[in-house]
Amino acid sequence: MIYDFTYENPTRIHFGRSAMQHLTTELNNYGRNILLVYGRNSIKNNGIYDTVLAAMQATGKNVSELAGIKSNPTYAQVLAGAKIVREQHIDLILAVGGGSVIDCSKGIAAAAACTHGDPWTRYWMQGEEVEGTVVPIGTVLTMTGTASEMNGGSVITNEEQTIKQGRVFPLATFAPRFSILNPEYTYTVPRYQMVSGIFDTFSHLMEQYFSGSDDCTSDYLLEGDMLALISAARKAIVNPEDYEARSNIMWCATMALNKILSLSKTQDWMVHQIEHQLGAYTDCAHGVGLAIISIPYYRHICHFGLHRFVRFATHIWGVNPDGKSDEQIALEGIECLSRFIAELGIPQTLREVGTTEEMLPLIAASCNKCGGYHVPSTDEVLQMLKECF
Ligand code: NZQ
Ligand code: ZN
Repeated sequence: MIYDFTYENPTRIHFGRSAMQHLTTELNNYGRNILLVYGRNSIKNNGIYDTVLAAMQATGKNVSELAGIKSNPTYAQVLAGAKIVREQHIDLILAVGGGSVIDCSKGIAAAAACTHGDPWTRYWMQGEEVEGTVVPIGTVLTMTGTASEMNGGSVITNEEQTIKQGRVFPLATFAPRFSILNPEYTYTVPRYQMVSGIFDTFSHLMEQYFSGSDDCTSDYLLEGDMLALISAARKAIVNPEDYEARSNIMWCATMALNKILSLSKTQDWMVHQIEHQLGAYTDCAHGVGLAIISIPYYRHICHFGLHRFVRFATHIWGVNPDGKSDEQIALEGIECLSRFIAELGIPQTLREVGTTEEMLPLIAASCNKCGGYHVPSTDEVLQMLKECF
C-alpha cells in the first residue's frame, strides 16, 4: 500500500559531459555576491576551480571564498562561513566538491539565517525550524555518494563536543537550487574515496530497504538502484575512467537519497547513526565506516526481519534458496555483501580506520538509537562494534 505523501524537489539537475555550460545561466539568476565554498586541493589540481572562476568572472560576480572544508566538515567551518554570508551580503553559496562541502554550505546557510541562540543547539541537536531568510545554494559535484546535491541533509561534526550529527532540512529551502553533475569530474577522485562513496550509496539503499513488510513500489526501485550500482561499481574498479560506469554511479547516488525512493516507506538508518559517532571519534571516511559496521549490524538484525533479508539474498545476490532455511538464505545474502565490500577493497575492521578499544563503549553510548525491524540497545551496538574491531 502506498501511504499519502507530498513530494517536491526544487533542485535543477544538469547532468553529463557538457553540464558545466549551464553554470553561467544559473549564476545569472542571482545577485552579484557569491560565496565559493570548496575543499582542500582537489579542485585546484584538476582545473575545476579555474573553470568555475571563469564563469563567475564572465557573469560579473564578486567572489568571496571559504576554502579547506574538510571531510567530515566542522561546526567551526560552518560558523566561519556564516560570518562571511552576513558580512558580504551573500546572494548565493556555490559549493564545489563532495558531500562535505555541500553539507557545510547548507550548514552555513542555516547558521547565517539564525536570528538568536546557538545554531548548533537549535538546528542540529534540537531540530528546530530555521526561521530567517535562507541564502540559496548551488553545487558543482566532484565526488559522488551522499546525494547532498539533491537533498536537504547537512551532517556536521562538533569537534568540541565529539558529536557528528545529521540534520535533514526542508527540501524547499535547503536543497540546492541547481546541481551540475559531470561524471568526468569524478575521474580524479582517489580510489579509496571512490569506493567509500559507492558504499555510502549502497548503504543508503539498504537502510531504506531493510524496513517494512509491504510489497511497496519503493522496494522494487531500491532493488533496481542496488543492482545498477553493483554492476557499475565492478566496472569502475577495473577502469575508473569508464564513463558509462562513473555516470551510472553518479546517478545511482543522487537517486538513492533524493528522497524519492523512500516515499511512503519506513526506514532503518541505524548503521548511519553508529558511523556518525565512529566518524566523530576517528574522522574516518564515511562510506568506509559504514561498510565495516554493516556486516555485524545486519547479522544481528536479520532475524527480526527475515523475510526482507531473504528477498535481499535472492533478488540482489542471486542466492539459490533450494533446500535452505530462511535464516541460512538471509545469512548467505549478508555473506555476499561482505564479499562485495572485499571486492571493492574497503577495509573490514575498525582498527584499520584508527579506532581504539577505549573508543568502542563511547561510540556505542553516544550514537542515536533507531532501527527498522529492531532498535538495538547500547549493549547490542557495543557487541557489534567488538565483532568488527
Ligand atoms: O578536500 P578535497 O581536496 O576537495 O578532497 C576531497 C576529500 O578529501 C576529495 N575529492 C572530492 N572530489 C574530488 C576529490 N579528489 C579528487 N578529485 C575530485 N574530483 O574527496 C575527499 C572526500 O570528499 P567528501 O566531500 O568528504 O566525501 P563525501 O562526498 O563522501 O562526503 C562525506 C560527508 O557527507 C556526509 C558524511 O557524513 C560526510 O560528512 N553525508 C551527507 C549526507 C547528506 N547530505 O544527505 C548523507 C550521507 O549519509 C552522509 O552522512
Ligand atoms: Zn551516508
